[in-house]
Order: sequence, then structure tokens, then C-alpha cells
Amino acid sequence: MLETRDLTMAYGERTLWSGLDLTLKPGALTALTGPSGSGKSTLLNCMGLLEKPTGGEIYFDRRELTGMRSGAARRFRRDHLGYLFQNYALVENASIAQNLDIALRARKRRGSAARAALSESLERVGLAGREGERVSRLSGGEQQRVAVARLLVKEPSLVLADEPTGALDQGNTATVVSLLRGMAQGGACVVIATHDDWVRDQCDEIVSVDDYVAR
Ligand SMILES: Nc1ncnc2c1ncn2[C@@H]1O[C@H](COP(=O)(O)OP(=O)(O)O)[C@@H](O)[C@H]1O
Ligand SMILES: [Mg+2]
Repeated sequence: MLETRDLTMAYGERTLWSGLDLTLKPGALTALTGPSGSGKSTLLNCMGLLEKPTGGEIYFDRRELTGMRSGAARRFRRDHLGYLFQNYALVENASIAQNLDIALRARKRRGSAARAALSESLERVGLAGREGERVSRLSGGEQQRVAVARLLVKEPSLVLADEPTGALDQGNTATVVSLLRGMAQGGACVVIATHDDWVRDQCDEIVSVDDYVAR
């Protein structure tokens, strides 16, 4: 479970949002909505320990994330956190298998166990048998499905998706949302920043960052 208490973020004089008290349950998809510039990415980055909020606390399974020292933050990110971005964040010049390799090694899977996990995750995203293909040759939808396969291998308990379908057609959008749904059903907490009304409507909870903007 992810909880924020009186979370606030300001850059200098400008407060992006304040007084955020959220409870995000495992098993649920939460949509993060709000106009461009309202601070959705910043909130995800605070949850992902990439930025420090200026006030309040974030807890994940009762551990306080805000205030973790760098070593603990690095371990939390390695063991529990999965990120999905609009622009996929893959190594384009490498093969699909090479892109998944880092996640496999982090899970200490090698040899035949690694190959089995790799082919299973590719099958789940509809890319069975395509391990050796170079990422730069794939379509956007295929690249995002590789990024999801990388998450499936990692099995994070907190998934932060920043406009993950922003560059996808409806078919790939539906596939990505359904894969994220599967991760939630496996027990993960899934947060999706999105502009897409259809994606928002697939989620169990909706948090509008705009409701927490000081006016
Ligand atoms: N390091 C920073 N210093 C100052 N302002 C920032 C910084 N990072 C982001 N911002 C500002 O915070 C606002 C929210 O950005 P962002 O979280 O990316 O919004 P969203 O994802 O909702 O479009 C933007 O106006 C952006 O310019
Ligand atoms: Mg953003």
C-alpha cells in the first residue's frame, strides 16, 4: 500500500500541489490526471524517489520513502520499483533480450531459468520468439511492450507509469493497460499518469492533481 501524508511540492515561490493525502491499494490501478504542467510527473518522481517533496511523507508498506538515505533508496528502487515511460526508455541499439537481461540479472536469474523467464514474459506481451530483434527496428507499440516485458521480469510491487500510452494506437493502448491490470492482480500498486480518457476510465481510482493546486 502506498500512502502520502500532507504531501507538498514547491519550486521556489510556486507550489505545484499541496495537502495530498492518498492511499493507493495493492491490486488497484490508479489514474493520475490533470493538465500538462500540473505536476503529475513530479508526483510520480517523488513516489519513485527521484525527487524529494518539499513537505509531507510517502510510505510504502509502512516504510517511509521520504527521508530514506541514498543506499536504502537505491535498494528500494532496485527491489520494488518499476517505471514505464511514454518514450519506452529502452536501449535502442540492443536486442530485446539484451534489454531484458539487466532485469533478469537483478532477479538473480541465469541460464535456463533466465531463458524461461525471458520467453514467458515475451509471450505475455505478444512478442514470443523475438528475443534477438533489435529494438530500433520495432514499432512504438512493440517497443512499449518490450518495456512492459521488462517490468514483468522484474515483478515490482510499485509500478509508476508516466503517460505510458501517450504515443500508442488504441490496440497497443488496450494491451498495455491490460498488462498493467495483470500486474495489479498479481498484487502490485499501479499508478498511471495519463491524458487519455479511455485509460482513465479503465482505472479503479482517479486522482486529479488539479484538486490539490493552491489557488
Ligand atoms: N526542477 C524544476 N525546477 C523548477 N520547476 C520545475 C522543475 N521540474 C519541473 N518543474 C515545473 O513543474 C511543473 C510540473 O511539471 P510536471 O510534473 O512535468 O507536470 P506534468 O507531468 O503534469 O505535465 C512544470 O511547470 C515544470 O516546469
Ligand atoms: Mg508529465
